[in-house]
Amino acid sequence: METVQFRQVIAVAFLLVGHTAFPQEKLPQLGHAPVSEIIKLMTLKEKASIVAGTGMRFQGHGAVIGEADGRVPGAAGNTMSITRFGIPGTVLSDGPAGVRIDPFRKGDSTKSYYATAWPVGTLLASSWDTALVKKVGVGFGNEIKEYGIDVILAPGMNIQRNLLNGRNFEYFSEDPYVSGYMAAAMVNGIQSNGVGTSIKHFAANNQESNRNAVNAIISERALRELYLRSFEIAVKRSQPTTVMSSYNKINGTYTSESNDLLTKILREEWGFKGMVMTDWFGGKDPVAQMKAGNDLLEPGTPWQQQAIIDAVKNGTLDVKVLDQNVERVLLYILKTPSFRKYQYSNTPDLKSHATLSRNAAADGMVLLKNDNSALPLTKNQKVALFGIGCYKPVIGGTGSGAVVVAYTVALEKGLSQIGYVPDTALKTIYVSQIKADLKTHPEKNMVLGSPHLVPEPELRATDINSAADHDDIGIFTIRRNAGEGADRKVEDFYLSEAEKTQLKAVGDAFHAKGKKIIVVLNIGGAIEMESWSKNVDAILLAWQPGLEAGNAIADVLSGGVDPSGKLATTFPVKYEDEPSAKSFPGTPANRPAESIYDEGIYVGYRYFNTFSVKTSYPFGYGLSYTKFTYSNLKLSAVAFSKKMTVTVTVTNTGKVVGKEVVQLYLSAPHKTLDKPSEELKGFGKTRLLQPGASQTLTFTIDPKNLASFNTEKSSWIADAGKYTVKIGASSEDIRMTKSFALAKTLIVEKDHKAIVPQVTIKELKN
Ligand code: BGC
Repeated sequence: METVQFRQVIAVAFLLVGHTAFPQEKLPQLGHAPVSEIIKLMTLKEKASIVAGTGMRFQGHGAVIGEADGRVPGAAGNTMSITRFGIPGTVLSDGPAGVRIDPFRKGDSTKSYYATAWPVGTLLASSWDTALVKKVGVGFGNEIKEYGIDVILAPGMNIQRNLLNGRNFEYFSEDPYVSGYMAAAMVNGIQSNGVGTSIKHFAANNQESNRNAVNAIISERALRELYLRSFEIAVKRSQPTTVMSSYNKINGTYTSESNDLLTKILREEWGFKGMVMTDWFGGKDPVAQMKAGNDLLEPGTPWQQQAIIDAVKNGTLDVKVLDQNVERVLLYILKTPSFRKYQYSNTPDLKSHATLSRNAAADGMVLLKNDNSALPLTKNQKVALFGIGCYKPVIGGTGSGAVVVAYTVALEKGLSQIGYVPDTALKTIYVSQIKADLKTHPEKNMVLGSPHLVPEPELRATDINSAADHDDIGIFTIRRNAGEGADRKVEDFYLSEAEKTQLKAVGDAFHAKGKKIIVVLNIGGAIEMESWSKNVDAILLAWQPGLEAGNAIADVLSGGVDPSGKLATTFPVKYEDEPSAKSFPGTPANRPAESIYDEGIYVGYRYFNTFSVKTSYPFGYGLSYTKFTYSNLKLSAVAFSKKMTVTVTVTNTGKVVGKEVVQLYLSAPHKTLDKPSEELKGFGKTRLLQPGASQTLTFTIDPKNLASFNTEKSSWIADAGKYTVKIGASSEDIRMTKSFALAKTLIVEKDHKAIVPQVTIKELKN
């Protein structure tokens, strides 16, 4: 009691005369005193400094406010320290595919600080293996910790609403269930190291075109069922340390200024306990951001701090609101390695991480086509490698999602290391093209927008024919790359004339000799397949596989690893088939001020399946070198009450070992709302099954899986009626079905009325 009174007296004295009056040695220290005591003694200026990061040297955004502490050069941001309260600065770094820091430091030429480039998010999701993704997270988290970073600005988890989004490679899927579970697995893995994550970009940052200001106009239902649902799953299943609000507006309000989003939904409904930070320079009004519950402004600017101080002084910002933001930042700091004074080594185990990256990459590659068992390759074959991608792979996208690596493994190396014999004449042509290009396009660490790809050389007919004569099989790589700051163009979806001509010439030459041609897709998002896929024997979708690219692709091509990935995003026949093709990226086209999501809930397979629009490769699709049969589908009851357990047995009926991804879709009755024909509500992957071996997978369906969001009632409601469980090898390849009944309509959850669109959206209906 005495202490409390003493502190109160001191606090008042302090507020009257400023902080020099407080005896320094008596000041409460972070970790030793409750944060509320520290906050009571902080000056307004200190509070404003805690909620706005240390700033950044960046032209056009004013002066730097506090020197970024410089501990980890190349990190994206810091939080401010206040030494008199024992508050250390902390380090925030990108990004989703690996630690993005500078590989070299001034005055330190003896060491390097390279990081592991993990496979991109889209590839990891295609593994459909949450245990694997968690394992990647554990390795990734160790690297984060050993490089002295407190929070990694990852995973990225926006819904792949349209295939042209330039950052889709960073994200997981078109489906919220896959995205949410993948993000949770990654967060749980990373955070098991005692470092933090920042799931991003919350929410509906589904395009790069005018990303800083575009107003995404979305119905409450589409928001709840798709764009928020993935974040909801991740928050509830992994409690990420922080959430990063996005740049865009939703229904008229910047997400970082939306109390509906950051407080009512994220905290009150979902129970999020951590801190929210802005995306870099995101939003406009720092006071509105504080009120919304966006606790930390990154990278922080002097004018933001001043605006907050002024607002408290003139009464437009209640200091209690600011105190709460400060409290959340301090509670975050308490959890960091910086606070624990963790002695990081700067020598993470890059070797073991490379192996993990390679294994994960192989497990997320998708075999799209394999006519007459063209793959796996026969041992020690002579291989004709066509395309720059065979010699210089695209390991990941660009922008903050890129990673600076010490090396990359090309397919040419990956194959030759395991006994294949690449064509040397072709190698000479491609390598000299790469070298020549490097002179005009030196490699840069961080490129925004559409990145430069080394142009493909024009091959002469004699080059192609002599390879077809001399080699056993042709492998042709097609590359795409994109990244932060720009969306892909429609042309990027289609093969260029040069690509088509070259692929046809190579295919014809090999087929004329009775030899096969394999295509490897080294891409970050869907491309058109219909016009050319019939002319090739096999297609492996390798995505952007991280620094061990060539080894991982060789593992799958050679049959060392059975391909077990499946698509977590649809490959449409033509771009116009995308449900959002007309509305993406919004109007006006050159700098969209608004983007109306008029496809509503019909994104990805929800659209293609419901409206029977043919795809090139559907959601959930992927082949293997072996075969699986499904049997013994059982439901725990014929009628639903509280939850339903579903089991199914998968047997490897083929000749080689392999793993199978099994998907559980649910069709719900259409009583009050229209519904997609089916929606994914569960998935699982078998262990490595020997030929003849079986495994039984178990899925649990909870009431929310049955429900849709009813806008009028702001509630998740499961209609009474018949529900059909569909067990699929893909969304179009349903192997077994069984139904159950829900006797009475259930109100599963009542939510706030929030983020209401101010205009009527003419949404697509079934
Ligand atoms: C990106 C974020 C990133 C941040 C810091 C922003 O431009 O949108 O994803 O974490 O920069 O680099």
